[in-house]
Amino acid sequence: MKIELKDKKVFFENQGLRKEIHPFWLRERVNGDNFVDKKTQQRLFDPTDLEENIKIDNINLSKEILEVTFNDGTYTKLTIQNILKEFSNINEVKYIDKVEWDSSLKDFNNFDFKDNFFEDQEMYKALVNFYKYGFVIFKKVPIKNNFIVNFANSIGSIRRTNFGEFFDVKSKPNPNDLAYTSLPLAPHTDNPYRNPVPCIQMLHCIENKVSGGFSTLVDGYTVTQKLKKDFPKYYKILTEIKVRFQFVDQSIVLEDWAEMIQLDENGAFKQVRFSPRLDFVPLIDKEKLELYYSARKKISQLYNSDKFRIEFKLSSGDLLMMDNYRLLHGRTTYDANEGNRFLQGCYIDYDSTEGKLKHLKRKFNL
Ligand code: OGA
Ligand code: ZN
Repeated sequence: MKIELKDKKVFFENQGLRKEIHPFWLRERVNGDNFVDKKTQQRLFDPTDLEENIKIDNINLSKEILEVTFNDGTYTKLTIQNILKEFSNINEVKYIDKVEWDSSLKDFNNFDFKDNFFEDQEMYKALVNFYKYGFVIFKKVPIKNNFIVNFANSIGSIRRTNFGEFFDVKSKPNPNDLAYTSLPLAPHTDNPYRNPVPCIQMLHCIENKVSGGFSTLVDGYTVTQKLKKDFPKYYKILTEIKVRFQFVDQSIVLEDWAEMIQLDENGAFKQVRFSPRLDFVPLIDKEKLELYYSARKKISQLYNSDKFRIEFKLSSGDLLMMDNYRLLHGRTTYDANEGNRFLQGCYIDYDSTEGKLKHLKRKFNL
C-alpha cells in the first residue's frame, strides 16, 4: 500500500490497483489547532458546511508526510501512516484470531486480580485471551459489597436487564428462572429472547460449599464449525430458520426471533443462541420441520457431548467472564442442603472490552 501524486491529485495504490482519493476526504482530515480540538481530538468544524467543490491547489509528498493546500485556503499536514491505517480498516479486536477449543483445553490462562488491575498490562493480556478463547477467569477478585458491579464498570458499563443491574445466582424460593434452583443447567446461552442479546456475561463466585455445582463451558464456534463440516444440511437450516425465544414472568414478556446459528454479511460466524427451555420453532412445512428437528437434535448432542465441554469448579473469588455470543455455559446439579452456592452475575457490552483493549494497547504501545 502506498500514496502517490499526479497532477495535483492524490492516489492510493494497493496490490496494483490505483484509485484517486477524493479531495473532500482529505479536506475533512485537516487537523491544525483551529480545526481539531487537541484535548478531545474532535472536529471544530462541520464538514457538511464545506463547499462541495473542494479541490487541491498544492501538494507535496515526503516519506512520512503529505502536505496539502486546498482551494478554500486551508493547509494541512497528514501522516501517511494515518491515511494507510484508515484504508486498511485495522481493528485490533478483529485481528485476534479465535482459537477453536474442545474438552482437551487444559490451560485456562487465569489472571490474578490486584491493585490498579484495570489499567495494568495484565488486563490487556486477559482481554486478548478473552477474544481468543471466548472466556477468561480472574482469580482473587474481592467478594464483598457486590464487587462485580465495580469490576464490570471498570472495564465498561454494566448492561442492566430485567434481572437487575446484577443478579444473585442461588437457590431461591419461587424462582423465575431455572438458574435460581439447584437443578443442573445444560449448556445454554443467556437471554436469547432479548434484543439485543447481552454480549458478555460475568459470573463471580462468592461461595461454593457444595460437592456438585461445577461450571461447564462449550465453544459454540468449534461446534458450529464441526457441524458445518460434517452435517452441512443441518448447519444450513440452523442458519436459516428464525425461531422464537421467549421469557415470561409476572412483570414482563420478552421475545425475539433469531437463528440458532447466526452468520454475518460474509457468511462467517456471528452468534449462537441455544436454550432448549425457551425456543419455539415456527409452524413451517412438515419436511422442513423434519430437517430442523434432526438438526437441532444433532447440535444439542454436540453441545452436550463430553468431547466439547470443559468442566471446572469456581471457588470463592473466581470471576468468569465469557462471550455469550460464542460460548455456551451451564452447571452440574448440586445439593443445596450441603452448604451455600452463591454466584453473582451481570452483563456488559462488546464495546466495553473492545474500547478497553484498544486503550491499553495505545497506553503500553503494544
Ligand atoms: C446463569 C447460569 C450458571 C451457574 O445464571 O445464567 O447459567 O453456575 N448460571 O449457576
Ligand atoms: Zn446462564
